[in-house]
Amino acid sequence: MRWIHAAGRGLLVLVVILTGYAASGVRADGGATGGRGPLTLATAGDLTGYLGPLLAGWNRAHPAEKVTLVELPDSADETRAQMATDLRDGDRHRFDVLNIDVNWTTEFAAAGWIRPLPRDRFPLGALLPPVVDTATYEGRLYAVPYVTNAGLLLYRKDVLAAEGVPPPRTWAELERYAEAIAPKHGLAGYAGQFLPYEGLTVNAAEAVYSAGGSILGDEGERVTVDSAAAREGVGFLARGVREGWIPRDALAYKEEESKQTFQDGRLLFLRNWPYAYVGASAEGSKVAGKVGAVPLPGPDGPGTSVLGGSNLAVGAHARHPDSAARLIAYLTSERVQRQVLTRGALPPVRADLYEDPELVAAFPYLPTLRESVLAAAPRPKSPRYDQVSLAVQAVVHDAMTGRQTPEAAVRRLARELAALSHR
Ligand code: GLC
Repeated sequence: MRWIHAAGRGLLVLVVILTGYAASGVRADGGATGGRGPLTLATAGDLTGYLGPLLAGWNRAHPAEKVTLVELPDSADETRAQMATDLRDGDRHRFDVLNIDVNWTTEFAAAGWIRPLPRDRFPLGALLPPVVDTATYEGRLYAVPYVTNAGLLLYRKDVLAAEGVPPPRTWAELERYAEAIAPKHGLAGYAGQFLPYEGLTVNAAEAVYSAGGSILGDEGERVTVDSAAAREGVGFLARGVREGWIPRDALAYKEEESKQTFQDGRLLFLRNWPYAYVGASAEGSKVAGKVGAVPLPGPDGPGTSVLGGSNLAVGAHARHPDSAARLIAYLTSERVQRQVLTRGALPPVRADLYEDPELVAAFPYLPTLRESVLAAAPRPKSPRYDQVSLAVQAVVHDAMTGRQTPEAAVRRLARELAALSHR
């Protein structure tokens, strides 16, 4: 009996050693390259519903490293807030891989919420150059570009053709057509994303940049917004609401609401991301076959788009960092990047896809989009980007609703941004 007991104890010890070994194999490898197992992937609202099926492909091929998709709200700000809450709480975090907006990389990295990644595991050399810059902080890679984006002006081809005018290249043309042509056809003139959230920051920055202005300089160190150009940019948006060629409803639009209005045939011009062009042109849209897209106009010619898109980051407390890196390599592989475009209607980050004859035939706007992405201006990089964006949104919204003149609004924004940098 005693020997059975002893053998049993030996077995137990062996089991303990083995499980201990296995467990510490996961824990000891907890660095950027270690640890395999299941993961969660948190993302802002998947507006084209492509990501679930795409991840199902990964899950079938990697049963031991299954990914659970956590879909957060459509609004970039709400998604950021939920991610920040999760990442701050190291013990109870739920998100392992995070699909973060390009302009959050600096803040998340500076706060220590996401971990640096080894450059050699990802196809950085194959990506469009400006997108790689959005993923670095203090010279290190903190995320891997996944989707890029640039704003376009969508317009009703049928309406402009009936009036015998080309698509607008300047703000004066846009304003004239929005004011005079749109009502004749029972349409509202122009809309973008004007609810106070990240989308309004984007639209406001585009107006300011297009007029030749800027918001912050020297990597966020200097406030540069108090300029005639910024007043002109904010003035363009405020004038639209005041004169009625921007409908008041648009003050509550995010991407989806503005896209829906255009797609329902109620709007002549819409500033949105390429996914809206794809959706409005697709079967089922009331304006299918009647939609054109051109670069955003500016005061005297083509304007400047803000660089949008998202990067994949790994949470500082991610459970299985090796699987996280493997998943990111998969999502940035050429095959999956093609699907990001063909199924998700989102602009891929891999440069060669923009010159792929098959894709260009199916998505004729790709060459224009590539130019827009390469010419797009990044939002200010700042560890306090969320505060910067909140200030821009609040102030520009006040100018658009007529609570403040564009001049007073720009002065106030300059003061608020200066106060932020001194805090
Ligand atoms: C899109 C862009 C993103 C931007 C957001 C604003 O998702 O890709 O960069 O911040 O719109 O609403």
